[in-house]
Amino acid sequence: MDRQAYIEHILDHYEHPRNKGRMEDATIQLGGGNPGCGDLITIYLKIGPGNRIERATFEGEGCTISQAGGSIITEMIEGMTLDEVKALGTHTMVEEMGEDVVKSRVRCATLALGTAQAAIQEYERGKTRANIAEATDRAEAASRAS
Ligand code: FES
Repeated sequence: MDRQAYIEHILDHYEHPRNKGRMEDATIQLGGGNPGCGDLITIYLKIGPGNRIERATFEGEGCTISQAGGSIITEMIEGMTLDEVKALGTHTMVEEMGEDVVKSRVRCATLALGTAQAAIQEYERGKTRANIAEATDRAEAASRAS
């Protein structure tokens, strides 16, 4: 894609956002912001069997690039495993938005992706906590029984 094609791609996602809206039955939701400007994005993920993203949506207020990023990223990660999403990075946004845009507006371009990855981290941390709690309960029950 040349520069113009990248800009049209970004504008198309901004003007006709895919997956925009709150998800009531999300497995996890997380808000992220760019402290430099105050722009916000909330990512909602529905995680299904095999740690795969069944559905992803977003809500937000902010600049064209950050909000187009919400649309691009939610579309991209649907069907991916959590590990696949964790492996994405700035290079992914360069492929989608072009090097010029990402270099000059890296915080805008990576806001949605960074928030989605942080949401996954939260989800995994929550699962670890749940597993520890379960193991502790089991250990307590076992010690009571003995
Ligand atoms: Fe705020 Fe782009 S100017 S995220």
